[in-house]
Order: sequence, then structure tokens, then C-alpha cells
Amino acid sequence: MKLTVFALTIATATAFTTPLATGRTSTAIFAEDAKINNMIDLDSPKVVNTDTLEAGEKKVYCRCWKSGTFPLCDAAHVEHNKACGDNVGPLIVDAAKAE
Ligand code: FES
Repeated sequence: MKLTVFALTIATATAFTTPLATGRTSTAIFAEDAKINNMIDLDSPKVVNTDTLEAGEKKVYCRCWKSGTFPLCDAAHVEHNKACGDNVGPLIVDAAKAE
């Protein structure tokens, strides 16, 4: 069994649905100063990553956009959270083996 992860879909859904759920306006969410990505593949018009996991494999994906190993988490979110009081963390995908 293979599990394909579309990191952009997950990251986008997380970034844009959470603020809406907390009552922030779309103007605040999409404002220039609300830019999320300040270091990953900045010359690309859209950062898209795909991955395929084998059964039993587990991967940890970055959702803070600070990882030096993006799209995988390298724990940079810990320093980011300490520096600015944020609470972001990774997405852990576990492709469990079928029984
Ligand atoms: S480094 Fe970004 S979530 Fe861990």
C-alpha cells in the first residue's frame, strides 16, 4: 500500500483554515505582511511537494516554513515558537501497514 502526500494541500489547508476558524478576517490573512514563506524556493511562483510513503513508513513534514530540510521538519519550529510565541508544529504522517 502506498500513500501519496500532497504537502502543499496540507500546508495550505492548515495555514488558511485555522485563521478563518479563529475569526481573523481574510484581509488580515492575505495581507502582504502576513507572508508565510520567507525562505523556501522563493523564485518559484508556487511551492508544491509530493511524496509517496511505503506501508509502515513514517515522515514528519514542516508546516512552519522554517525548516532547512523542507518539506521535512528539522525542528526549526521550536526556535521559531520561542522567538515569537507562536505554536506551530509539524504534520506527522504514518502509513500504517494493513493488517
Ligand atoms: S521545522 Fe517546520 S514544523 Fe518543524
